[in-house]
Amino acid sequence: ILEDNERVAEWSARYLIKRINDFKPGPNKFFVLGLPTGGTPLGTYKKLVQYHKAGKISFKYVKTFNMDEYVGIPRDHSQSYHSFMWQNLFKHIDIDPANAHILNGNAANLEEECQLYEDKIKEAGGIELFMGGIGPDGHIAFNEPGSSLVSRTRVKTLNQETITANARFFDDDMSKVPKQALTVGVGTVMDSREVMVLITGSHKAYALHMAIEEGVNHMWTVSAFQQHPRTIMLCDEDATLEL
Ligand code: GLP
Repeated sequence: ILEDNERVAEWSARYLIKRINDFKPGPNKFFVLGLPTGGTPLGTYKKLVQYHKAGKISFKYVKTFNMDEYVGIPRDHSQSYHSFMWQNLFKHIDIDPANAHILNGNAANLEEECQLYEDKIKEAGGIELFMGGIGPDGHIAFNEPGSSLVSRTRVKTLNQETITANARFFDDDMSKVPKQALTVGVGTVMDSREVMVLITGSHKAYALHMAIEEGVNHMWTVSAFQQHPRTIMLCDEDATLEL
C-alpha cells in the first residue's frame, strides 16, 4: 500500500526496471512482459519513458504482450489499445516494433487470432511478468464477471458496467464504445511467472476488498490471483477504503 497514484507509478516503474535489468538476455532470450492499458498504468508508462531517456533502461531485449484490444475499431482509432500503447509507451522507447505484440481486433478470424496469440506467448517462453489493472467490477484484462478462471485468450462481450466506465474515452457516448474485445484469459495471466496488479482510487476499493479478502470467485476475476504463487497487489491508500 502506497500513499497515492504517483507513488504507485514510481514503485511499479522501478520494479519493472529492476526485473528487466536483472535479467540476462542472450541470443533469442528476451524478457517477456505482459502489459495493460487504462488510466491506471499511465503514470508507470510515463516514468518508464523518463527512465529510458535518462539511460536507465533499454527495451532492446524485451518482448511485450498486451492484455486486450477492442473488436471492430480501426487500429489507428485514437482509442484503440494499439494507439494507446504507441502513444504512451512504445514510440518513446527502443523496443523493436516486431517485439511489441497486441491482439488484432480486426482479424478476419478472431478465434484464430486468439489461438495464434497464445501460441506466440508460448513460443516466446511464456510471460515473465504480467502487469495488470482492474475494472471497478474486479475484472482483469477484459475477463468480465462470470469468466472462467481457467479461460484463455478469446473474444469477450463487454458488460454494461465496463461500457459505461469506458464511455469517457468515447465522447461520453456509450453507443460508440465497442461491445466486444479480444482478451487474454485469466488462465493466460495465471500462467505468467509473476503478476503485478495496480489498483488505485476509491472507485476500486470494493473490488480490492473482493479481490483479496473474500474467496476466489469468478464474479471477481482478479481474485484468482490469490492462488498465484507470485503476485503483487500494488495499491494506493484510496483503494484500501473497504479493507
Ligand atoms: C479496461 C481494461 C482493463 C483495465 C480497466 C481499468 O476494462 N480492459 O485492462 O484494467 O479498463 O481501467 P482504468 O485503469 O482506466 O481504471
